[in-house]
Amino acid sequence: MSEQTRVAVRSRPRGWTDNAIRLIETDARRSADTHLLRYPLPSAWSTDADVELYLKDETTHITGSLKHRLARSLFLYALCNGWIGEETTVVEASSGSTAVSEAYFAALLGLPFIAVMPASTSASKVALIESQGGRCHFVKHSGDIYAEAERVAERTGGHYLDQFTNAERATDWRGNNNIAESIFVQMRDEKHPIPEWIVVGAGTGGTSATIGRYIRYRRHATRLCVVDPENSAFYPAYAENRYDTVIDASSRIEGIGRPRVEPSFLPDVVDRMVSVPDAASIAAARHASDVLGRRVGASTGTNLWGAFGLLAEMVAAGRAGSVVTLLADSGDRYADTYFCDDWVKAQGLDTGPSAAVLAEFERTGRWV
Ligand SMILES: Cc1ncc(COP(=O)(O)O)c(C=O)c1O
Repeated sequence: MSEQTRVAVRSRPRGWTDNAIRLIETDARRSADTHLLRYPLPSAWSTDADVELYLKDETTHITGSLKHRLARSLFLYALCNGWIGEETTVVEASSGSTAVSEAYFAALLGLPFIAVMPASTSASKVALIESQGGRCHFVKHSGDIYAEAERVAERTGGHYLDQFTNAERATDWRGNNNIAESIFVQMRDEKHPIPEWIVVGAGTGGTSATIGRYIRYRRHATRLCVVDPENSAFYPAYAENRYDTVIDASSRIEGIGRPRVEPSFLPDVVDRMVSVPDAASIAAARHASDVLGRRVGASTGTNLWGAFGLLAEMVAAGRAGSVVTLLADSGDRYADTYFCDDWVKAQGLDTGPSAAVLAEFERTGRWV
């Protein structure tokens, strides 16, 4: 007997998905790109030194942080993969900012949203998620968010977006106005248009993966430096070349530093890593807030601590050039933590020595 031609069909109506993608695309079209700010280096030394520092200001996204880009990409990725439909509850594991942005897109599409977050997440982020109709589900240890998010998705028949796995896949690293392309386009007419260094932190690792890949793809000489806070697995794993590293504590710098090496972190595109003490991140965030006249988050402090160190290295070597880093989120979200002396003291942190390093850098361009 001869084999017959057989046909299996799983085709479903695409009207809802078409409209969902249209809603996200039109939302993006109504939005402007984020600014690339020039960070004012002290004129006392920087005029001779011929170095420039730029801050990609990601606070100007509608949902206030760098994570707006990721949330948009993750929703488009899930929609185009057929993972989200009209009735889907969307679930995410997050330390806060990603969930704020995802709650926005879930509301845009009229979908229920549940954020699984560590109990330590700042009250203002919880309020932002809830104000957009999202629900927050807390776990005690940040390392528990992954399994709990899977459980919540299973229980609700929902879809777990899984930023930590999908960040590097969902972002178009070759271009499509990703953060790397945007930086290089905005730098085009600057004095040193190809940065010596781009400095970023890692939460999922997605931003560093996108920038590292883009630099290679475009064959730029720029190097990528990833800064990492205390209580994070990324730095020790990179330094020891062991990617099963697990840390039994939570990062105090919201948005960056993870207890495990996330699948979206791609060490092979990173040229250097710097481990930044939390007191230094907070001191740098406060210092930059004074310089800029607006509060920046602690992870921006981590970024700047790394960027200042590299600038000082360039100055000492007599090398001209530019460094770009990110203003990832606003310090207004952290009035009760990084900008509250009692909280800093209760954490056993002393920002004094780091503030002295920053003052010396400000005065002389030297990094002690
Ligand atoms: C607040 C904040 N969130 C997230 C990130 C990095 O995000 P991801 O690694 O998830 O792309 C940064 C990086 O500088 C950051 O400062």
